[in-house]
Amino acid sequence: MSAHRLVPESLALLTEGYAWLPDLMRAEDDTALTLRVLGKPALAMRGPDAVRYFYDEEHVRRHGALPGPVLSTLFGHGAVHTLDGDAHRQRKSFFLPLLETDAVTSSAGHIADAWDEAVPRWREQPEVALFDAVGAVITRGVCRWAGVPLAEGEEVPLARDLLAMVDGFATAGPRHWRARRARTRQERQFADLVTRVRSGAVDAPTGSVLDRVQGHRDASGAELSPRIAAVELLNVIRPATALSWFVAFAAHALHSWPEHLERLRSGDAEFTTAFVHEVRRFYPFAPFLGGQAVTELTWHGRRVPAGGLVLLDVYGQNHDEGLFKDPYAFRPERFLARPPGRDDLIPQGGADPRTGHRCPGEAMTVGVLDTLVQRLARLRYEVPPQNLTIPLSRIPTRPRSGVIIKVRA
Ligand code: HEM
Repeated sequence: MSAHRLVPESLALLTEGYAWLPDLMRAEDDTALTLRVLGKPALAMRGPDAVRYFYDEEHVRRHGALPGPVLSTLFGHGAVHTLDGDAHRQRKSFFLPLLETDAVTSSAGHIADAWDEAVPRWREQPEVALFDAVGAVITRGVCRWAGVPLAEGEEVPLARDLLAMVDGFATAGPRHWRARRARTRQERQFADLVTRVRSGAVDAPTGSVLDRVQGHRDASGAELSPRIAAVELLNVIRPATALSWFVAFAAHALHSWPEHLERLRSGDAEFTTAFVHEVRRFYPFAPFLGGQAVTELTWHGRRVPAGGLVLLDVYGQNHDEGLFKDPYAFRPERFLARPPGRDDLIPQGGADPRTGHRCPGEAMTVGVLDTLVQRLARLRYEVPPQNLTIPLSRIPTRPRSGVIIKVRA
């Protein structure tokens, strides 16, 4: 076992996908590893202690850590994800109201209404591609909730762009260029919307996400430029639409383990939330998180110099035998006995979302999925033969077919 490993850099990540870092970690001691990524020294870690270490601003900063292609597709240049210290705290304050129960309930309510409106249309179609259809449903619901005006039917091309931004962030091929074009197009449209709200040409409902972003001020006291306001508005709408990945995974789970259907259909709220946590744990989404070492760091005897990369092994931690017994079994019951510990289950980051970079949309994710998973379980549909495999080499992955269903009348 070598303490320092030379990896054929991003090539391994591109071919091995989600298995890349966990496999390397397994070959070491499962908690820490030094390696080189894109020519840079890197330190990878996992486990609840590692989460707390990684989220300490004295150890890891975000500025300059995210590659340009990821910013040009997924997050947007200048996004909250790239800020540290006071600038981060001030920008994050725009997102923190998302954590409140009111925001969770009302966003889930709007998205559930959009689902209920779509179901009669689904019944009339010979087949529905669930992943795409749910993307459009969520886009419609989340825009209504956020105060973003959307004409009838506009949710379809917008959802297509939002899903493309997520789908294309970790690849160099055509998916990536589609994602870039989608971001350029939507940043322009949303920046224009912010400008029109500021000029009084468009009304933003008081207190809505649109209203708050146009009025938000940075640490210097200046209002956000229309482009940055657009980037952060998209940082609410886009990840909400990305919940269609988890709805597709939930459908995959119900198809694979139909024994869970009855409890979900009965409206058992506790079990539904446990099921949602298990979907977020079991299925792959974010592979790892990265930052830059503020100073030379030593973790479990492994060292990385200042400026080196620090990686938190998200997928590996969510499948860590020590944290989740029998981690490759889909068992929602594990979260009935014991709700997830703050720094154990980390599909949306770890530590405190109020002070660090943890996802501020996590409560909303669980709230929306609670509602949609129950609706999905009650929907009467068939799953015709199709390729439902989930390739671990693709980031982000999903059932290959996009989950085709035939909804019964
Ligand atoms: C950050 C995952 C849904 C808004 C993050 C991070 C992850 C993540 C892994 C990075 C944490 C870090 O850098 O430490 C997910 C997943 C989602 C989801 C898997 C469901 C598919 C949402 C939703 C919203 C949202 C619904 C908003 C409505 C954000 C924002 C950040 C973030 C603004 C940046 C926070 C910061 O840098 O301080 N998310 N998220 N996410 N997420 Fe989510």
